[in-house]
Amino acid sequence: MSVRRALVPGSFDPVTNGHLDIIERAAGLFDEVRVVVARNASKSPLFSLDERLEMLQDVCSPLKNVTVHTFDGLLVQYAIDCKAQVIVKGLRAVSDFEYELQMALMNRRLADRVETVFLMTGADYSYLSSNIVKEIARLGGAVEGLVPESVEKRLRQKLAEQRRETV
Ligand code: PNS
Repeated sequence: MSVRRALVPGSFDPVTNGHLDIIERAAGLFDEVRVVVARNASKSPLFSLDERLEMLQDVCSPLKNVTVHTFDGLLVQYAIDCKAQVIVKGLRAVSDFEYELQMALMNRRLADRVETVFLMTGADYSYLSSNIVKEIARLGGAVEGLVPESVEKRLRQKLAEQRRETV
């Protein structure tokens, strides 16, 4: 019997409870899930790649069929190389749809055997994004319940570091 292997790709800067919800549900649907962090995402992240990997490894450790990796270049090429049949993406709102559809169709054009599967985000997380969490934390708001506790702590430390550097 062939193993159903899925990728959950993203920048994860940092991982939120919305991401974790998608990862957990993907873990229930597929034999193996690889959470894959893009090395070359064209953004300037708050957390280094190593920090993002550590946070993901920490929050994914209870999920026995989930591993955390990085990838470079095209996601579909990475999927082919590691024999993953499926890319799992979370959809929050209609506003996500257009961009996600464009990526899914382009990825299918590049590699038609790699299927993109969308999971609707949990209602509690439909307004959640890494960017909004960072902004709230930066402006002194509470991010409790939006990110895992370990991430909340790292976020506070990182922003305190940044504040010290700018004084
Ligand atoms: O969390 P993000 O930033 O929305 O994740 C975007 C990501 C990393 C999934 C996307 O940018 C991606 O797949 N990048 C890899 C490069 C690639 O394959 N580009 C072609 C997509 S059609």
